[in-house]
Amino acid sequence: MEKITSREIRSKFLNFFEKNKHQIVPSSSLIPADTTVLFTSAGMQQFIPYFLGDTVPPFKRAASAQKCFRTSDIEGVGDEFHHTFFEMLGNWSFGDYFKEGAIVLALELLRKVFSIPLDRLYITVFKGEKDIPRDEQAARLWKKYSIPDSHIFWFGKKENFWGPIASSGPCGPCSEIYYDRGKEWEIRPHTLKTCGPNCGCGRFVEIWNLVFMEYNQLESGKLEKLKKHNIDTGAGLERLTCILNNLSSDYQTDLFLPIMDKIKLFAKKSNLNYQRIIADHIRASVFLIADGVLPGKEERSYVLRRLIRRSIRYANLLGMQGKNLLDLAKVVIDNYKDIYPELHSHQADILTVLENEEEKFSVSLKQGLKKFWQVANKTKNKGLKFMDSKDVFHLYDTYGIPFEIIEQMAKEAGLKVSYQDFKKEFSRHQSVSKKGAEKKFQGLKYWGEKVAHLHTATHLLQAALRKVLGEEVRQAGSDINIERLRFDFTFPRKLTQEELEKVEKLVQEKIKEDLPVTEEQMTYEEAIKLGALAFFKERYPKIVKVYTIGDPKNPFSREICAGPHVKRTGQIEDFKIVKQESVGAGVKRIKATAKKKE
Ligand code: ALA
Repeated sequence: MEKITSREIRSKFLNFFEKNKHQIVPSSSLIPADTTVLFTSAGMQQFIPYFLGDTVPPFKRAASAQKCFRTSDIEGVGDEFHHTFFEMLGNWSFGDYFKEGAIVLALELLRKVFSIPLDRLYITVFKGEKDIPRDEQAARLWKKYSIPDSHIFWFGKKENFWGPIASSGPCGPCSEIYYDRGKEWEIRPHTLKTCGPNCGCGRFVEIWNLVFMEYNQLESGKLEKLKKHNIDTGAGLERLTCILNNLSSDYQTDLFLPIMDKIKLFAKKSNLNYQRIIADHIRASVFLIADGVLPGKEERSYVLRRLIRRSIRYANLLGMQGKNLLDLAKVVIDNYKDIYPELHSHQADILTVLENEEEKFSVSLKQGLKKFWQVANKTKNKGLKFMDSKDVFHLYDTYGIPFEIIEQMAKEAGLKVSYQDFKKEFSRHQSVSKKGAEKKFQGLKYWGEKVAHLHTATHLLQAALRKVLGEEVRQAGSDINIERLRFDFTFPRKLTQEELEKVEKLVQEKIKEDLPVTEEQMTYEEAIKLGALAFFKERYPKIVKVYTIGDPKNPFSREICAGPHVKRTGQIEDFKIVKQESVGAGVKRIKATAKKKE
């Protein structure tokens, strides 16, 4: 087989389906519109309403290359094929073609476009379980299109029934296509009597999943037939690139090579698993941040924090510098920026977020390691095997060390930690801190109206910065308390004194003009169409509030914002820029004060 790049594979896949009358749809964000799930983990997610029949699809066939993220795979990263972030190539039929169409298209693409010989292909089919019948039809079709009986394997629900993605939703039996890498790839023990798909020995690699989506699973677990037959397929781009180039691991493909090479360059020690973990986690972090996830303590923010902290820890173990991670992120951005322009446009934010997290964690990791050894020695001196869960929680809570890192350090020290006990300790603390959080929230609500003038002043400031410095200025963060406003924005260099004065003066002028501040509600799309600025790190609801300062036909400022704001700019007085700071690569910070006219 000739060498083929991931880029060629992506575009050949999409071109093939476009020629076959599919609408090419751009990847949706890693943060799904449906907030019942944390991340986009399959290409079908943006089409769920079409499958369920809630929305009439604007096209009957679609195809995409979708950014996906799977938390379930974090622990598995390190081997040849596991990733947290990956790209899924897929094609869909919404009540159009069904099993036969999907099988014909898949075989044609693999055989004609990617030149895979037929005898390399193995197929799995759903053998039936409980009330869901055996998929004889799919098996018949595979045979009709030249797959010999000996290459067809039957499995149950676990392997050959896909979905739903949440506790309810579209799902159905599936057929998976496997690629036979040849006998020399039987590198692990066989887990099945007959070596073939799902054997685990390493010879057979799953390359494409065709889901025959005909059910909707209700919350109760009951399956209901969907009104129409649909097709949902998914092929991992990394895998496809790997096998089409006859490589032994996804990490050798052009999707990873530049970053793996850079890691090898920085690392003082070599450990392939660690290198892969760092490469996977940095790539995933870059994509998550570009889609607006920030590291933090909750849900998807915590997932990102774990990824970054795990990569820092493994980088440490390889003798790399913390700052090297930024260089790795740049390699990822360079490698992908023409396919995913959001990486390029958010480069400054991505690097700032990583740098901040790195700075924060490096310090606490150092202190945490000291504390860890104290605890470890104490445990050993007592002749115990398990570390006290209170101590483990303390390392997690105070030093921000993710549980699995503590677990790994314990292992290295010849000790153990109990996840069960850690969870118990975690829940106990959560109920205590919830009370604290409620108090804090009441505090915030309390000073809402009191700082309305500072909210409006922040909008004036952003508009003034954009007028003086250019449109590349974009909000990167904002914080307001009773005394001052703080505004972070993307800009590559320090502002000159003259520029600062110009900005300050422009804001003061707009205050003097006593411009009206109007509030409207509309859909997010309408707001963007009207030219309202949106802070990319926010996730907006369907209906948003838009604040306009000045003549609505030609406003000085228009932003999506939750408020509160004053009614006229004349209610602000004494606006003053008090400080300029740099908060990281490409992000500047301005602090300013203002008073409310009583
Ligand atoms: N949605 C199917 C999967 O993720 C194609 O495997």
